[in-house]
Amino acid sequence: MDKIIILDFGSQYTQLIARKIRELGVYAEIVPFNRYFDKTDVKGIILSGSPSSIYDNDAPLPSREIFEIGLPILGICYGMQVIAKFFSGKIAPSKKREYGPAIIRLKKKNELIDEEIDGSVVWMSHGDRLEELPEGFESVAYTDNSPFAVVQNTKRRIWAVQFHPEVHHSKKGKQILARFVFDICGAEANWNMENFLETQINQIRETVKNKRVIGAVSGGVDSSVVAVLMNKAIGENFIGVFVNNGLLRKNEAQYVLESFKKLGVNIRYVDASELFLERLKGVIDPEKKRKIIGHTFIDVFREIAEEYDDVEFLAQGTLYPDVIESVSVKGPSATIKSHHNVGGLPKDLNFKLIEPLRELFKDEVRRLGKKLGLDDEFINRHPFPGPGLAIRVIGEITQERLNVLREADAIVIEEIKKASVYNDVWQAFAVLLPISTVGVMGDKRTYENVVALRVVESVDGMTADWSRLPYELLGRISNRVINEVEGVNRVVYDISSKPPSTIEWE
Ligand code: XMP
Repeated sequence: MDKIIILDFGSQYTQLIARKIRELGVYAEIVPFNRYFDKTDVKGIILSGSPSSIYDNDAPLPSREIFEIGLPILGICYGMQVIAKFFSGKIAPSKKREYGPAIIRLKKKNELIDEEIDGSVVWMSHGDRLEELPEGFESVAYTDNSPFAVVQNTKRRIWAVQFHPEVHHSKKGKQILARFVFDICGAEANWNMENFLETQINQIRETVKNKRVIGAVSGGVDSSVVAVLMNKAIGENFIGVFVNNGLLRKNEAQYVLESFKKLGVNIRYVDASELFLERLKGVIDPEKKRKIIGHTFIDVFREIAEEYDDVEFLAQGTLYPDVIESVSVKGPSATIKSHHNVGGLPKDLNFKLIEPLRELFKDEVRRLGKKLGLDDEFINRHPFPGPGLAIRVIGEITQERLNVLREADAIVIEEIKKASVYNDVWQAFAVLLPISTVGVMGDKRTYENVVALRVVESVDGMTADWSRLPYELLGRISNRVINEVEGVNRVVYDISSKPPSTIEWE
């Protein structure tokens, strides 16, 4: 399979380059800038952007060897400066950062940019810029602020662009990447989900042979796609385990099990809700809740696994963004919330790991899921945290409070779906607050629970904004929750963005 290597210098956009190229049907892999990579099937190399300046003492630089391999190279932004540095160009530190749109103007027709791209908007985001051409290079396109917006050395097959073709705001950016990948590198579009599926199934069969594989199924997209894929590859030798921790949404367990049944996938259902709720009794601190839930899950899973003596592998839904050793994420980032996913099983379970999705981005997993027969409703479900409703019942968790929240939450989801908003938002859910407020129902004073609505828009959950839902929809939800859920007399809408708030309340 043809491959494009992206050397990562730490840009926030590195993953976008890989995704855009994969969307073109060509497999792209991200490699740290200083790491050796296997050249087999590699058709070209892209040098990513970076938050660093080439003037920094510890500016990231690749080995000179990459310019000697003879593969076509495209430098993007900082990647352009790297090229200039190796070929004695002059880069000027700029006091003013150029950030935002610019119009690209063709100076000389070339393999990367042609008349079709001439005059289109490109996105700039750089401080330093090229001032003097590197040896053997010529400028083929410019913008008002950058005389060398695109440079080339056709003899060495090197191109470099000052702007970011990978971002959405570069209107014809994808076309530029396509020209590099197809016309310059001669790569073939042979990366698609059908190929992927076929190769994975063969690989899984080869690895597992006649041994058994166990895997936790949470009902989320990733672990579900793994389960269906494993089942397709090795049938009943895959044991998918769905643990009910008593913290699930209304009808969740039933829905998940039925979805699998429709696909002919047998899932082992374990109801451990009593154990979880017992251990959570009296616990208020959110981090403590998470730890207890994480540990209890491991205890339950371990016990199930021990029932089988021929299980050699553990299947997990690890995705590509978790695997990439991006230089952009080096350095300690503070733990805001410890996230315990079902995937987070301890190493001492002594299984060999199988991670069939480790090369995929989330949208690719969704496409694969579709190919495997999971329906749209299942595939497009909102993310749901591992600790479930435990972090949405603020304060102490009791069966009664869980039930109140379940009913309210079901109404929220039902109304959001009815209004065709569900697929436009990142998450929508109800939160049960640990206070009571006064209300009046009929002629009587009430003193009951408050439910908060949380509906956010987000791209990756890292940042988020509250959804500007229509008042009518908010009104309908509030009316229904107060009228239909016993014990609730007030509904409030959370209008905080992340940061500084978080999506979940705990
Ligand atoms: P926050 O609340 O940190 O949430 O803004 C960001 C995303 O992560 C989900 N989330 C969790 N997922 N275990 C999980 O598996 C957790 O402990 C957890 N806490 C938050 C949250 O639902 C949102 O999608």
